[in-house]
Amino acid sequence: MTQAASGVQPLRWHGDALELLDQRLLPGRIHYVRCTSAAEVAVAIRDMVVRGAPAIGCAAAYGFALDAMRGADCVQAEALLGESRPTAVNLFWALARMRTAADPRAEAEAIFREDLAMNQAIGAHGAALIPHRARIMTHCNAGALATAGHGTALGIIRSAHAAGRAISVVANETRPYLQGARLTAWECVQEGIPVTLVTDNMAGHLMQRGEVDLVIVGADRIAANGDTANKIGTYTLAVLAQRHGLPFYVAAPSSTFDLATADGAAIPIEERSADEVTGYRGERWAPEGIAVRNPAFDVTPAELITALVCERGIIHSPGREAITAMLAGPTGT
Ligand code: MRU
Repeated sequence: MTQAASGVQPLRWHGDALELLDQRLLPGRIHYVRCTSAAEVAVAIRDMVVRGAPAIGCAAAYGFALDAMRGADCVQAEALLGESRPTAVNLFWALARMRTAADPRAEAEAIFREDLAMNQAIGAHGAALIPHRARIMTHCNAGALATAGHGTALGIIRSAHAAGRAISVVANETRPYLQGARLTAWECVQEGIPVTLVTDNMAGHLMQRGEVDLVIVGADRIAANGDTANKIGTYTLAVLAQRHGLPFYVAAPSSTFDLATADGAAIPIEERSADEVTGYRGERWAPEGIAVRNPAFDVTPAELITALVCERGIIHSPGREAITAMLAGPTGT
């Protein structure tokens, strides 16, 4: 397996097993979970050992390969993996590729390698959008941890930082699962990228005070018209960005685009366990018996997106025609 450029390795192949960095334990502990079957990988995806749309796609590909290599039933492997999480289309994109692969292990490797290359290309395109001294707000974690390496939204930040631009990051905590506080903050600290952590409800205040210059987020699924599903709270940020006249960028590889889904209303939104909202890591703060909603994603309408940054290029004011044309064009890597 190709080593991820950033040094953070969310997935690695070791012997005859897939090892997944347990993201539930970060930043406190580095521990890899060993998976030897599609069933184990499906559980790891469902339980958030590995998360982030492209990383989920890579893990599913290796999970499928694990079963194929030991002669197990690939139809069952695909069904198990396909039930693990519903929103990130990269999962289904990867499984569709695996279904027709002549050499499953080589195909999983190719999916991983291509994802890394796509992220680096996204970083190169996107860095051109980042002014010197930009204060960049991001939400959730769309970094190396969420991909084969480098990252999408955080990949752009990483590339701009590496190019010598004096940028800084405002990382939203990202309730309820704290991907921003635990993962994005950790990646930035590891690499010496200046970062300030805020809770999600501080975003509007910081924008109003002129402390944010632009917003960049990742995506779990981009519908044919450009409507974009991403971590819950993203839509709120896009509305706030429009109100304050700030650019709102979405970064994603072509594997996150879903031309079969016409618009955002048709994107399935995962509803997760109430425990994530009523408390954290065993501590409960909400009263017993309380009704809870926990949608893990929301949809940002295309009209609120300043530009989509893909490995194939940048689409300003995204819409159906431009997206279709870009995906039909040169690969960009
Ligand atoms: O629930 P998660 O942590 O899998 O959600 C992740 C996100 O919403 C990311 O922003 C998205 O998958 C893009 S990752 C490059």
